[in-house]
Amino acid sequence: MGLASRIVSTPAWKLFAKYYYPFITRHGADDVAFLNLGYEEDPPMSVPLSEADEPDRYCIQLYHRTATQADLAGKAVLEVSCGHGGGAAYLTRALRPASYTGLDLNPAGIEVCRRMHNQPGLDFVQGDAENLPFDDNSFDAVINIEASHCYPSLPRFLVEVARVLRPGGHLLYADVRRCDHFADWEAELADGPLQMRSKETINEQVVRGLQLSLPRSQHMFTRRTPAMLRGVVRGAVAASISKLCDGLRRGESSYRIYCFENV
Ligand SMILES: C[S@@+](CC[C@H](N)C(=O)[O-])C[C@H]1O[C@@H](n2cnc3c(N)ncnc32)[C@H](O)[C@@H]1O
Repeated sequence: MGLASRIVSTPAWKLFAKYYYPFITRHGADDVAFLNLGYEEDPPMSVPLSEADEPDRYCIQLYHRTATQADLAGKAVLEVSCGHGGGAAYLTRALRPASYTGLDLNPAGIEVCRRMHNQPGLDFVQGDAENLPFDDNSFDAVINIEASHCYPSLPRFLVEVARVLRPGGHLLYADVRRCDHFADWEAELADGPLQMRSKETINEQVVRGLQLSLPRSQHMFTRRTPAMLRGVVRGAVAASISKLCDGLRRGESSYRIYCFENV
């Protein structure tokens, strides 16, 4: 949901995020499986999808691109901040981990996950990214997508990831920051306990994903809006997405994908 990436990482947002996501889950997004901005390459990725997954293609592709930085087949995977669980459900089907646990702070979101995605090997837990309710060395990979900008302390999250990952395990990570937070973000990642293996800025791909997802976003925001207001809401959604895209194109924000290893 676009609001996050316009104000990412401000102290006010970090306080507000705790209340924002339960609010949107309860007031309109309780049947929406993805809450990220989307991703598309040029030429198109053409990830093979079922008819049911097709409407969420660009959000799914962000998951696919991030998660396939490591081989997850047969592995124990944790996703921190799984939102409404669409990515967890897709990756469990497509990449065949031995187990996949989705965790999110938002209790209403976890209820949505359990209702929408009842699949073998997949379970959901309510919890905090900075205080993970798992034993040391219990996962082979941790996935984290478009969420760490909400955490009061990124360093605390990284320490928790290193604790629950087995040696040689991976953090597959994607997120966005505004330019005035780039230096802090980079320093916190460099000073953390995990070894950076790769980094890519994906502003162009996210802009493409956002533009191609515009009809989906407009539908999401208007389907429960009275008919007479739908035109106005559609216009407001288009304007907000266009502003986000401009910020990413001009480099005022940076959306990045990383792979870290627990050495
Ligand atoms: C933009 S949404 C992304 C959700 C999901 N990764 C996706 O791509 O659909 C950010 C998520 O971070 C979660 N979140 C925020 N603070 C958190 C925290 N301290 N611990 C765990 N999850 C948190 C929110 O509840 C929300 O579901």
